Amino acid sequence: MDRRNIILIGPMGSGKSTIGNIIAKRLNREFQDSDHYIEERTGVDIARIFDIEGETGFRERETNALIELLSRDNRVIATGGGSVLRPENQKLLREKGYIVFLDTSVHQQLRRLRRDKKRPLLQTDNPRARLEALFAERRPIYLDLADLAVKTDKRVARWLAADIISQLPENLR
Ligand code: S3P
Repeated sequence: MDRRNIILIGPMGSGKSTIGNIIAKRLNREFQDSDHYIEERTGVDIARIFDIEGETGFRERETNALIELLSRDNRVIATGGGSVLRPENQKLLREKGYIVFLDTSVHQQLRRLRRDKKRPLLQTDNPRARLEALFAERRPIYLDLADLAVKTDKRVARWLAADIISQLPENLR
């Protein structure tokens, strides 16, 4: 098996970028964040892409970003929360990396995202209901894809990162 990337999946506000960054530094790997990559490539933010191209346009860009980011090895990659939806993305993630699921409660997400203005899916009257619906739809997919699932609630980022590293297969550490 040659899956040398470490891929973080999980919902918005689960800490994929923060944890991914720490893991990458500790393991001396390159860190990439898929949303950030898309924003750099297009020169506009995710909200603007949703405005202009709709969610479908964004998902197309997301798939392309994953293909590009996973064309190399030895990276730590933070994915967007909805990147696990498309079967073609699922296949790619499985083939190209060891998948770590940051399992976060809606309660925790709300604490972190209460004032968020950047995530188009949360700009609704009832973000809690939206997060709960996404949780119900996506958590089974995250669990199915995960090589490793870790609970993130009430945990300090650098300890969580250390815990994840200690559970990685030896060839990835
Ligand atoms: C989304 C999550 C976001 C971003 C976009 C859509 C989703 O990424 O890709 O707003 O569908 O859950 P984060 O998980 O990094 O917030």
